[in-house]
Amino acid sequence: MDIIAIINQKGGTGKTTTAINLGSALAFLKKKVLLIDLDPQANLTYSFGIQSPEGTMTEVLQGKQTIQAILVNKEGLEIAPSSIALSDIEISLVSKIGREGILKERLKDLKSYDFVFIDSPPSLSILTINTLNAADEVLIPLQMEILSLQGLAQLLNTVREVKRVLNNRLRISGIIPSMYDNRRNLSEEILKELEKNIKEKVFKSVIRECVKIAESPSFAKSVLSYAPDSHGAEDFVKLAKEFLRER
Ligand SMILES: Nc1ncnc2c1ncn2[C@@H]1O[C@H](COP(=O)(O)OP(=O)(O)O)[C@@H](O)[C@H]1O
Ligand SMILES: [Mg+2]
Repeated sequence: MDIIAIINQKGGTGKTTTAINLGSALAFLKKKVLLIDLDPQANLTYSFGIQSPEGTMTEVLQGKQTIQAILVNKEGLEIAPSSIALSDIEISLVSKIGREGILKERLKDLKSYDFVFIDSPPSLSILTINTLNAADEVLIPLQMEILSLQGLAQLLNTVREVKRVLNNRLRISGIIPSMYDNRRNLSEEILKELEKNIKEKVFKSVIRECVKIAESPSFAKSVLSYAPDSHGAEDFVKLAKEFLRER
């Protein structure tokens, strides 16, 4: 079982979209997948139309429920929902001893999955540090914009620091070029710049901009089930295959 943190401290870079659609592409390829929503904005939870779940990651982190007890099944995936109350946990964690290890502790008994993806908030907060501490790997969705490259340096430093201090297992499995615009030379230039300047793997399977990807959450579906013939669905299946090949 591999636990994979999907992180980027910037909002709107495609973290939630990657969790949902890489997750469902892997489920389509017969893998057993769990998606954990660890963002208080609960975008992943709402994107699957989950309205009032039995419990959320808030209760799991509080130790009031086990993660198994709160799982919801959608499209052959298991989902651990979030809620806005998770932001209160974030505040209460700040003063707790062992605060970086709470998520890891709560995931200890999970066994039966091939992949667990954790969708994280757009910050380098205590929730994100918990995510990195619980994970084996990191996936970084990155928009092909000049400013993304600056944020990336800080992000890679944080990952290295967590690896050094808390979690020696942690490795970066790759950077996913997201919202790639074929019509803009800029996307291509930034991608080249990225490949030249960092030693981390950059996935060959870029995720192109696709209206169907943006629409699918309103229909409570992944793009694979909402628009299976779209280039968005095609890109995520390609990415899933590349992701599996690299292991
Ligand atoms: N490849 C894409 N094509 C079109 N829209 C996209 C694509 N990827 C993400 N989006 C849209 O961009 C917005 C931000 O993406 P999201 O995955 O929520 O980012 P994050 O979780 O990093 O904040 C969402 O509205 C999403 O539907
Ligand atoms: Mg998100």
